Amino acid sequence: METVVSGIRSTGNLHLGNYYGAVKNFVKMQNEYNCFFFIADYHSLTTHPTPANLHGNVKQVLVEYLASGIDPEKATIYVQSDVPEVTELYLYLNMNAYMGELERSTSFKDKVRAHPDNVNAGLLTYPVLMAADIIIHKATKVPVGKDQEQHLEMARTFGNRFNRLYNVDYFPEAYAFTFSENLVKIPGLDGKGKMGKSEGEANAVYLSDSPELIKKKVMRAVTDGGPTEMNQEKPEVIQNLFSLLQVVSSEDTYRHFDDLYNSCQIRYGDLKKQLAEDMILSTAPIRERINDISADTEYLRKVSKLGAEKARESAGKTVREVREIIGFKSF
Ligand code: TYM
Repeated sequence: METVVSGIRSTGNLHLGNYYGAVKNFVKMQNEYNCFFFIADYHSLTTHPTPANLHGNVKQVLVEYLASGIDPEKATIYVQSDVPEVTELYLYLNMNAYMGELERSTSFKDKVRAHPDNVNAGLLTYPVLMAADIIIHKATKVPVGKDQEQHLEMARTFGNRFNRLYNVDYFPEAYAFTFSENLVKIPGLDGKGKMGKSEGEANAVYLSDSPELIKKKVMRAVTDGGPTEMNQEKPEVIQNLFSLLQVVSSEDTYRHFDDLYNSCQIRYGDLKKQLAEDMILSTAPIRERINDISADTEYLRKVSKLGAEKARESAGKTVREVREIIGFKSF
């Protein structure tokens, strides 16, 4: 059975981008593959969270994984820092990851641009840690959104380089995976690009948002003056709303509004109302479970303990074999 690995940084609540780009696929894949889904708390350290925030955010992602339907009986759910073996593999991989290629990574360049005052080494070697996460379980499929494609390419580079350096056929190649034709990129509500935690509160709709808040955010989404010609191409701000509609609404609803746009009869207020309604509906079962799961500390403890054990067993085996390949020997 093929192995699947994916993780989400513990930097806040999960939004619709995380859900439709990643978690929805996790839930589907757990029935068909040997799955490892983790909470990337080591990765979240690049932004220096306080101890209280760190723990709270880890808990929130764990709760929302479970509320979304990831089943600890089917998939291994764990907290990254419960599996310190990953940092050992990260260290080995760092020895053949080069400054030039790390500096060229798009996400690194974006982070440098956004926070020039915090260009730390952890940020630079972020893709190396991510590669370690993936190859430590010898995964071949990684369910992620479009923004992670380059990181997956780097993970293959580092795994292959290790194989070549030691002349072994040890790490398999892992590829980004989605059930749809293309990797998903969920746009935000500000009309400027992807939905994200760092793009501002109003840009993202969170799984834990109340229906009222979702409605408020969607109704405030940026639009334009409307189409002036029949069948005119949609500008980005409008295309974004249609992309969201495509994910949360039925095909009929999408087509209905698309026809209205193409015939210059669209009223954006109606479109947004429908979009908000369908967002609320499609996330209702998750939202309803969040509070109960969050209150059940005993259950969360059980899930994370079981996950940590299973993940450490798999990671420990890899690290032992890697040590042997590298040439570490006891006297
Ligand atoms: P992170 O925490 O930024 O995002 C988690 C997952 O959500 C997806 N995602 C989106 N998908 C579509 N549209 C969006 N607007 C959107 N925003 C986020 C991401 O593609 C991702 O799948 N580096 C990773 C965490 C990580 C990881 C790993 C993932 C660490 N190690 C190993 C896979 C395997 C990250 O920062 O994701």
